[in-house]
Amino acid sequence: MKQFYLKTKICEFEKVKGFCEAFKIGKGDLIFVSNATYENYFAGEVEGASVINYRKYGSGEPTDLMVEGIYKDIKDLSYNRVIAIGGGTILDIAKLFALENVSPVVDLYEGKLEIVKTKQLILVPTTCGTGSEVTNISILELTTKHTKMGLAVEELYADTAVLIPELLEGLPFKFFATSSIDALIHAIESFTSPKANEFTKMFSLKAMKIILEAYKIIAKEGEDARKTLLGDLLIASTFAGIAFGNAGCAAVHAMSYPLGAAYHVPHGEANYAIFTGVYKTYQILNPNGSIVGLNHYLAEILACQPEEVYEEIEKLLNHIIPKKSLREYGVKEEELEVFTETVMTKQGRLMANNYVPLDSNYVLTIYKGLY
Ligand SMILES: [Fe+2]
Repeated sequence: MKQFYLKTKICEFEKVKGFCEAFKIGKGDLIFVSNATYENYFAGEVEGASVINYRKYGSGEPTDLMVEGIYKDIKDLSYNRVIAIGGGTILDIAKLFALENVSPVVDLYEGKLEIVKTKQLILVPTTCGTGSEVTNISILELTTKHTKMGLAVEELYADTAVLIPELLEGLPFKFFATSSIDALIHAIESFTSPKANEFTKMFSLKAMKIILEAYKIIAKEGEDARKTLLGDLLIASTFAGIAFGNAGCAAVHAMSYPLGAAYHVPHGEANYAIFTGVYKTYQILNPNGSIVGLNHYLAEILACQPEEVYEEIEKLLNHIIPKKSLREYGVKEEELEVFTETVMTKQGRLMANNYVPLDSNYVLTIYKGLY
């Protein structure tokens, strides 16, 4: 049985200049980058490349509308390499542009287009969260279907992931917070996934430790303390990406999607809103599986008893981002059943990785508890 796979070559550069020189970026390259990142780091370094300011196609989580807007503008360009520099949104979108057939993107997600990778793909994260640079998954909000869907195929792996801590220096604290919490939850969900194994768990555990130790420093010294930790967190989020790319994420992600889609809550924050509700339920349903190892490991880092970890982790994470109830996001109680229905019918890919199978009653009960 397959245990572990990593197709992507991982490179690290201290500075953007070193990356541009080593990769000889220029003619034949299609670069997705925000205007601000381009001006600050890439201007003068990428002569001859086609540069697309992806921000002009929308902000927030990736949608089918963004993909179609970009497709319309670039479909006549000729390029051999796609280079995406940014957060999870543009990394996920860029993966699609390494394929021969991109549009209509809803058809691509519904398996109606042939998936053929024809371009080289280089992904350069500017947040410490999604791990998208090392996974074969692209998540899109399909606006016509009112849900997020993931497309996960071999062809979506990047050829190269490039880690450049310099690019995270300007990341505002809020984005640092939501992206790193997302990475922490990737590490935790992949650890308790039934697909986890010794290879994936090694990456999960190391990612958890780096992120939580960083949070302890930030809780003590304040937001600016993160600036010396960016390189570590970039590695941690890539580790978490490797772990969940192999073992999968689960109910926390599945249940956060309706919240993110309906109320535009940032992905990492939506995950945090759901996280302890799911794990406290897992703990009740099966206190004797891999959650034992997780709780002991977290207890050691948090200096608490294993039975206190979910309270303690919340106390620590509240220094990074305040936990809100679903009600505080504007969710109405009657929507919880709709959310549950969406999770049960559209998020089977993720729900298959739950530590304990969760039926619609459990999902609704968790939502109600978080309401
Ligand atoms: Fe995530």
